[in-house]
Amino acid sequence: MQDLRFGVIGCGGMGRLHTTNASFVPGLKTIAYCDLILGKAQDFLRLFGGEYATDDADDLFADKSLDGVLIQTGEVAHPGLVTGAAQAGKHIFCEKPLARTLPEAKQAVEAVEKSGVKMVFGVCNRLAPMVQRAKRLVPHPVYTYCQCAETITSQAVHNLDLAVHLFHEAPLLKVYAQGQQVWGLDPHLPADSFVATLTFADGSVHCYIQHGASRNGTLRKYHYQLFGKENMVYLAERFKKCILHNTSGAVTQSFSFEGPDFGGEGADDVRGPFGYMGHYDELAHLCDCIRTGSASLLTVRQGMHVLAVEKAILESLATGMPVDFVEFCTRNGIDN
Ligand SMILES: NC(=O)c1ccc[n+]([C@@H]2O[C@H](COP(=O)([O-])OP(=O)(O)OC[C@H]3O[C@@H](n4cnc5c(N)ncnc54)[C@H](O)[C@@H]3O)[C@@H](O)[C@H]2O)c1
Repeated sequence: MQDLRFGVIGCGGMGRLHTTNASFVPGLKTIAYCDLILGKAQDFLRLFGGEYATDDADDLFADKSLDGVLIQTGEVAHPGLVTGAAQAGKHIFCEKPLARTLPEAKQAVEAVEKSGVKMVFGVCNRLAPMVQRAKRLVPHPVYTYCQCAETITSQAVHNLDLAVHLFHEAPLLKVYAQGQQVWGLDPHLPADSFVATLTFADGSVHCYIQHGASRNGTLRKYHYQLFGKENMVYLAERFKKCILHNTSGAVTQSFSFEGPDFGGEGADDVRGPFGYMGHYDELAHLCDCIRTGSASLLTVRQGMHVLAVEKAILESLATGMPVDFVEFCTRNGIDN
């Protein structure tokens, strides 16, 4: 198996996590590093090894020896870099969020789909072992519920992605949200915290509570529940635990991620740091797509779609009215 050669764009916190994880993925080598702050790229070259460091992503796009790039710079630069990488024929991993606006996201989607490169969009939790198990245990929930700290711009993409791209399979029809500026965390937005309901075509409903700076230390940053007709699943401890209850509340099965984060000598489940969250799986999945030609499970189009869900929530917060999501997508020129 020939190594897949990757460049890293964005040598900050997530760059470090993904480059570390990449070193555990068989046949993936990071050999080039790029950051606007050249010193950060040079630090990565020293730390992880490879061939060169640069402060210009175009150097990586022009490098014919590179198969792909890992992009984690933040949403301001993501759409331009994804577009540049796709046009250069590089396979792509790009962290969430895909973009700040729907037109920027559309530009990235068009470039990736036109080029035919493989792209994995960084909604890691969808591949997290306990999240996948929850979906198998309650495949068709009637209601789901997520509670999460911080704001729509920082965390919502992960949890909304699980609602619209994994747990609920029917198309999203209606979005209704109410909230207010309580802490001034995202002062340019109509609210920094809110309660939203998403209604799907099969009648199932997702309830999402984004509670800003008010944290629940017992339940941690986020937790999820899936209510089916016969049973209910609780995803606890940042998706490390998955607990199945029957409708009377008795625990019938309980699973917990015990996998070694860093594996070790002889370990058969080497996943890298935060293994329970699916970051390792994203990179392994991208390599698999490149080698086998299979389709990505975390697509760039889904990155745009989940941004549209966020925008519809913001529209509902601003107007105080429910948003017809089908009409919203048509109005913004995207597929539902
Ligand atoms: N999936 C997750 O679990 C998770 C967790 C945290 C952050 N994130 C996302 O990852 C992304 C990066 O977050 P972070 O915490 O690593 O940020 P960071 O600020 O630590 O690192 C970003 C780096 O990118 C560099 N950069 C910015 N624009 C660039 C450009 N055009 N070319 C080259 N380098 C550029 C910056 O100089 C910086 O070093 C964000 O989009 C964030 O939302 C995801």
